[in-house]
Amino acid sequence: EEWKDKGAAVGIRQEVDASGKPVNRVVKKGVKDFNFGRTLGEGSYSTVLAATDRQTLREYAIKVLDKRHIIKEKKVKYVNIEKDTLNRLTDHPGIVRLYYTFQDERSLYFVLDLASGGELLGFLKKMGTFDEECTRFYGAQILDAIGYMHSRGVIHRDLKPENVLLDSQMHVKITDFGTAKILDIKRPNGSGAVAGDPMDGADTDRAVSFVGTAEYVSPELLTDKNACKASDLWAFGCIIYQLLAGRPPFKAGNEYLTFQKIVALEYSYPDGFPEVARDLVDRLLVLDPAKRLPIEHIKNHQFFDGISWGPGLSLNSWAAP
Ligand code: ADE
Repeated sequence: EEWKDKGAAVGIRQEVDASGKPVNRVVKKGVKDFNFGRTLGEGSYSTVLAATDRQTLREYAIKVLDKRHIIKEKKVKYVNIEKDTLNRLTDHPGIVRLYYTFQDERSLYFVLDLASGGELLGFLKKMGTFDEECTRFYGAQILDAIGYMHSRGVIHRDLKPENVLLDSQMHVKITDFGTAKILDIKRPNGSGAVAGDPMDGADTDRAVSFVGTAEYVSPELLTDKNACKASDLWAFGCIIYQLLAGRPPFKAGNEYLTFQKIVALEYSYPDGFPEVARDLVDRLLVLDPAKRLPIEHIKNHQFFDGISWGPGLSLNSWAAP
């Protein structure tokens, strides 16, 4: 099996040559460069471990994937999607950054930002519900990260509070791009896809077979089996609702019943749900993706009054001493 390893992240090591002249040598990081620590998470195809770079003492989260298992379960394509996607999204504080990838005989390794605060879901469960201010704070960061990934041609397709991690400062880091979709970015003439590209068909295959997590799945995915950028905004509406209500808007005894509620747009608000937030959620939970509020309009919605969008995203009421 071929594991793509183009453009792997590397480090620079300063050495001296035979004559004593200093030279910079490009060195690829490997398993031996890290001390592995506690388990941070376990998925069906991977384990995430805390790890420390032996040289810099910087801490990371390393996602370890078992090659044999991935081949057996036919997930090679999705591992490559995750890597390609993360390599496209290296410049936003709200997205878990991929620093290095390497492999040994048995495993693949993704060296990622450590998000020591754990999942937003865990924090929400501890709190029960968030107030409006807290929801605005996390919501703004999630939306800003979505805006960035969309501008880079990536649809996440599985946004939910489990995939929103928190760093040591309680700032969000979106993770889990294994089910993302990379949109075709127009290439200059003559540099289009090469025949036999192993990624050929990856998106179309996924479009018919992939359904995200039931509670956050958009109606267009259920009816047309097709996700678009607005599908992430449907999930964003579900998340805003959940932060304020303590539970997602569409939830039933099983997946099938949940899907039925989604396509029927069957949801209601608990008592005390803030009016302005309700207006925003109602404009996001819209069946026709073309009629869903676009990102720029969401940013200008009254719910986000007080947020300074743009580099160094901030909440002005927080800046006050
Ligand atoms: N669990 C999964 N990914 C993680 C990360 N990057 N940091 C902390 N915990 C995680």
